[in-house]
Amino acid sequence: MSAAAPKAGEPAPAVRHVAIIMDGNGRWAKKRHLPRVVGHQRGVEAVRAIVRAAARLGLEALTLYAFSTENWRRPEEEVSALMGLMKRFILSNLEEFASNNIRLRIIGDYRAMAADVVALIDGALARTAGNTGPIVAVALNYGSQDEIARAAAKVATSGRAITPETIASELDTADMPPLDLLIRTSGEVRLSNFLLWQAAYAELWFTEVLWPDFTPVHLEEALAEFAGRERRYGGR
Ligand code: IPE
Ligand code: IPE
Ligand code: MG
Repeated sequence: MSAAAPKAGEPAPAVRHVAIIMDGNGRWAKKRHLPRVVGHQRGVEAVRAIVRAAARLGLEALTLYAFSTENWRRPEEEVSALMGLMKRFILSNLEEFASNNIRLRIIGDYRAMAADVVALIDGALARTAGNTGPIVAVALNYGSQDEIARAAAKVATSGRAITPETIASELDTADMPPLDLLIRTSGEVRLSNFLLWQAAYAELWFTEVLWPDFTPVHLEEALAEFAGRERRYGGR
């Protein structure tokens, strides 16, 4: 993972890859005495503007945490509402992504999800596979520990030595630029099993803003702060 790291002490280069833990939909709804699912609906609506902004700001990759391996623990009703929203998100955004040269990716073990979701995703991935622009990776049934274990198992099965490089080459993010900036909304200050490996030297940015209220202005604020940080990668 250190391969693409610039030298210590050099000014931060342009940000290439931003990831976001889109948290706080439930609290957004609760504050308004609305059902949680309304918070999730508004959360999905917030995504479109952020994807547009990411492309406009020249990011090479944007990774969005949408559903974790632990989110299955939520009530069945909430899980199925989230699955419905996921499908609607893909259906209503696919043409825009496709015509704006966006490459849609999924990270996480999405093939373990319901057959209709898998089929929809496979169609969407194929639809943008020939594009050459920014990658928008959606983390679905994603857990970093699961991802690292899957990668290690692939390396072991192939008979290669287990090293940081071989594991990194089998992660779901293998062909994406190194993670520069990891954002979490809603005031929680933890990673919740997201990109643990990739975040080794990422800059972290936390905001109290709840995800449905997160706008491109907040993304630009995070990027402006990132630009002023000095990344050292353990050097001096
Ligand atoms: C994030 O919002 C969306 C998902 C985890 C799917 P939450 O539903 O976690 O909202 P809070 O944390 O309860 O406010
Ligand atoms: C992380 O949020 C997962 C997503 C945003 C998809 P959670 O709300 O599930 O995380 P915890 O439970 O607060 O750590
Ligand atoms: Mg949450």
